[in-house]
Amino acid sequence: MVEGGGAPVEWRGAVPVSRRFGDPYFSLEDGLAEARHVFLGGNGLPERARPGFRILEMGFGTGLNCLATLAALRRAGQAGPVFYTAFEAYPLAPGDRARALAAFPELSREAVELDGLLARGGGPHALGPLVLTLVTGDARETLPAWTGEADAAYLDGFAPARNPEMWEAPLLAVLAARLAPGGTLATYSAAGAVRRALEAAGLLVERRPGFGRKRHMTVARRP
Ligand SMILES: C[S@@+](CC[C@H](N)C(=O)[O-])C[C@H]1O[C@@H](n2cnc3c(N)ncnc32)[C@H](O)[C@@H]1O
Repeated sequence: MVEGGGAPVEWRGAVPVSRRFGDPYFSLEDGLAEARHVFLGGNGLPERARPGFRILEMGFGTGLNCLATLAALRRAGQAGPVFYTAFEAYPLAPGDRARALAAFPELSREAVELDGLLARGGGPHALGPLVLTLVTGDARETLPAWTGEADAAYLDGFAPARNPEMWEAPLLAVLAARLAPGGTLATYSAAGAVRRALEAAGLLVERRPGFGRKRHMTVARRP
């Protein structure tokens, strides 16, 4: 349903599916376990986090990856600040975001905190140990205009076949250039074109076991 003018979604069980892209926002099996396996595990988090660490997310969606990160940092006793900058072209309506996150009761405290903050705009917002900034607009324009650097990146567009603009080589080259030396990137996709574009952008690319029914995922590191 379209709520409050946000990105149009329909529901497959508890999981929102984009009407624009025809793809779910996260794994139909278990989005939180997927976030932990792919984005946290792929970037060595929370272990690598330290005060001043910088995380970049391509595709904020429901905020599930963000809240999984927040909960993991709290569990690890990491006080931060850890800077979390997320890029999103089509923000969800608050009601849809809350409905999606309600499927993860262990994040209920974090979901309420997030809701209160985003009602006040894109930030930066103090969210426990995180400092969250949500950059709204097409990442092909907003990422090149962003002058920051990241120690870890979550590349989480919809499937490359359905959302090719999030995976095109020029954008991935900009993303690679925004990684600090030693910085890492993780994505659930193991598409050959994505891996090749990351390699061409100078990253060391590795295939790892994927989450759930996905055999592989991709991790990359800037030397
Ligand atoms: C798979 S979903 C992300 C799920 C999200 N990480 C979460 O935790 O819920 C992909 C996201 O990429 C966004 N997106 C698609 N094309 C985009 C673009 N050109 N620029 C920025 N964001 C885009 C979509 O609106 C969607 O929110």
